[in-house]
Amino acid sequence: MAKMMAIPSTLLVLALTSFTTAQRVIKAEIWKPQIPLNSTIYDNSTIYGTNETLSRRSIIAQLTPKPDRSLYWINVTLGTPGQPQSLQLDTGSNVLLVPAVGSSLCSPGLIPCAALGSFDSSKSSTFSNTNQATSETFTDGASVSGNWIYDTVGIGGGSVAGQLAILGTSGSSITEGVLGVGFPASWPTLNHNLAAQNIISSNSYSLWLDQASSASGTILFGGLNLARFLGTLLKVPIIGTTNSDGSTAYNQATVQLTRVATINGLLPTIMTPLTYSENAILDTGTSLTILQQDLATSIINAMGAQYYPSGSTSGNAIVPCSAANNNALSVNFHFSNLLTGPTINVPLSQLVLGILGSLDGTTYCQFGIYSAPASAGYPTILGDTFLRNAYAVYDLDTHHVGLAQAVYDSHVVDRIIEIPAGGIPAGIVVG
Ligand SMILES: *[C@@H]1O[C@H](CO)[C@@H](O)[C@H](O)[C@H]1NC(C)=O
Ligand SMILES: *[C@@H]1O[C@H](CO)[C@@H](O)[C@H](O)[C@H]1NC(C)=O
Ligand SMILES: *[C@@H]1O[C@H](CO)[C@@H](O)[C@H](O)[C@H]1NC(C)=O
Ligand SMILES: *[C@@H]1O[C@H](CO)[C@@H](O)[C@H](O)[C@H]1NC(C)=O
Repeated sequence: MAKMMAIPSTLLVLALTSFTTAQRVIKAEIWKPQIPLNSTIYDNSTIYGTNETLSRRSIIAQLTPKPDRSLYWINVTLGTPGQPQSLQLDTGSNVLLVPAVGSSLCSPGLIPCAALGSFDSSKSSTFSNTNQATSETFTDGASVSGNWIYDTVGIGGGSVAGQLAILGTSGSSITEGVLGVGFPASWPTLNHNLAAQNIISSNSYSLWLDQASSASGTILFGGLNLARFLGTLLKVPIIGTTNSDGSTAYNQATVQLTRVATINGLLPTIMTPLTYSENAILDTGTSLTILQQDLATSIINAMGAQYYPSGSTSGNAIVPCSAANNNALSVNFHFSNLLTGPTINVPLSQLVLGILGSLDGTTYCQFGIYSAPASAGYPTILGDTFLRNAYAVYDLDTHHVGLAQAVYDSHVVDRIIEIPAGGIPAGIVVG
């Protein structure tokens, strides 16, 4: 928990100075949808299937067939004058997708455009159509077709001119527009353009998702908030993939996970082999944390959770909802070098998600870790149930992520600094 921490005097000067100069930082609230969205999987069995409305964050359907969709949304405007759009904030993809007004994408079962917005290009004076058709498929199988367009995007009080986007007109399994803030592909992302148009100083952003019970968090483009983390913000390299020509391609914020330990009281138990090294993707677009079967099973057992349906040895797990009050159990995730790299602590209370129903008089909730069957080839994904515990700074220009333990306290006073062109400043310490 955040207490009043002494701030090193040098940092205080830095922070105070930055208040007196014009900061190139865009701040936007990100939020979890409160409108009821239909689940395709909330079904079945004696314990699932009570008649409640779930918000998307506890929907198990996220996990089939591929868990890759965002659970945090962001409001932007498109066009001039700006037309409001609520989009999924997805660090794992890199396209801006908005449904066209009155198109079949706004049909029942697809995007609820009345609630989330759609775009009427005829009402925008800055709209420009490339007339180039496109068809995109997301890794979870959702797909969309439409045209590449350009228009002005308003975000957090800033404005990006000539942003490339897909104006979607049809699709399948797609239930919302998307703001992908991953690495630029062959087209510029919104975050790339924020930097390219000098609205922020580097292609970077900081995520503070707040705790599981909170309805919203914050994203800062081009900045970070010293009041939202404890200790030192430690940088780890983003791991790319090597192209056939020897160059490196960056697609996701993949980092090196080097140890996972469960903590009971003060007692740590290391759950991974000494030589453990696993590529793990930091992704807001995945609701749960997906670990490989052996590791996930160890954690599920140590946290008092169990697989569901009973008898299964991978997949979803459930936990008594009372675990939300457990203050003794937690999981530590270590990154990169075991001595100098960051460690993020995830308390069991943050791994207890929506109520699923009751079984033998005990009320069960979804457990925040999903066990990837060894044969399925799922990547390890540190999704929202992990990210909520971290302050995560994505520095896409220099290919680093800064990680520190998040501070949830709502009474802290923001101390926002700019991330300069060279990337995350070295030696950022709070507390
Ligand atoms: C859930 O429903 C599916 C399809 O109706 C069925 O195949 C499956 O066995 C059910 N699972 C449980 C745990 O009842
Ligand atoms: C769910 O709704 C159906 C139809 O309204 C009703 O028959 C059933 O009793 C409800 N179940 C629960 C657990 O409330
Ligand atoms: C975003 O837009 C939706 C739909 O208009 C609105 O209900 C919600 O309050 C907005 N959220 C924020 C954080 O602006
Ligand atoms: C949810 O399902 C109901 C009933 O099947 C349907 O009427 C409604 O349009 C659906 N809502 C969305 C957002 O797809």
